[in-house]
Amino acid sequence: MEIVKKGNIECNVEPDAVTDLGIKNQMIVVTIPEVVLKGIVHDLNNALCVPNELLPVIREKISLCNKDEVFDILDEIGLATGHAIKIAKQLGCLSGNNHSIKKKVDVINLVRDAGRVGLSGSRIHLEVNAREKTLIVECDEAGLFRVLVNFLLNARQSINGGNGVVRLNIENTVVDQRSNLPLQDGDYVRISIADNGEGISPENLKRVFKPGFTTKSNGNGIGLATSAQIIREHDGHIEVKSELGVGTTFEIFLPVAREEKRREEKRNF
Ligand SMILES: Nc1ncnc2c1ncn2[C@@H]1O[C@H](COP(=O)(O)OP(=O)(O)OP(=O)(O)O)[C@@H](O)[C@H]1O
Ligand SMILES: [Mg+2]
Repeated sequence: MEIVKKGNIECNVEPDAVTDLGIKNQMIVVTIPEVVLKGIVHDLNNALCVPNELLPVIREKISLCNKDEVFDILDEIGLATGHAIKIAKQLGCLSGNNHSIKKKVDVINLVRDAGRVGLSGSRIHLEVNAREKTLIVECDEAGLFRVLVNFLLNARQSINGGNGVVRLNIENTVVDQRSNLPLQDGDYVRISIADNGEGISPENLKRVFKPGFTTKSNGNGIGLATSAQIIREHDGHIEVKSELGVGTTFEIFLPVAREEKRREEKRNF
């Protein structure tokens, strides 16, 4: 059996497990950077916590026979487990630098589903605003979903069991030199995630994307560092604004898919 060395954690992958990659009858040694593996394990754990926390809720609802609420919860469990399966697949596809598989995705639907998964079982009011019907970006769907769920869990934790509000806004935006953003000029989709939680102090605001930075007793400081890395891999950027006691807004910028841009140009001709 041939050993293919692809790239500080090594995994032996049995041939059957990698037929999706079109590589057969070879023993593959995959080297995964520790930071990537930690990020995936962190987000897989996040995804699996959702069904785990919802199971006692569904038991209670069934005993009260509240059918509609049970169906809503089952939908959320389905979204969360589907997300966990995609993350696990991502782990299976890791080899060398080929971390993500990009395809055209409607971000409005993705953001809506992430909102349901990230806030499921909480009393937080979720608002999703989008002027367009669809907004397409070329992205690693599971990766972007992981990013969105991370932002939503942070928003939820900052509201800390209260009756807060999370507003998700998705829109087209043009970036040029006047925007003063570390991005190439062009058309982008801006996704903003705004909460009315505890907020972040100005000194902590400079550190939130540093791996290992956390202010939570049970936090790891992995969520935002991993999210920033995934967005960089999409040629995007993240902005953050916050005020203590008022709330926090994160903005994600992602380039509009090339074909969509051409279609938009034709429409405006
Ligand atoms: N929406 C938010 N509101 C208030 N503080 C936030 C928010 N998002 C992030 N933070 C701050 O940024 C820190 C880093 O966030 P990050 O998601 O990277 O790690 P964490 O949530 O502490 O732990 P975990 O690795 O489990 O996600 C948090 O500990 C918190 O202090
Ligand atoms: Mg977090």
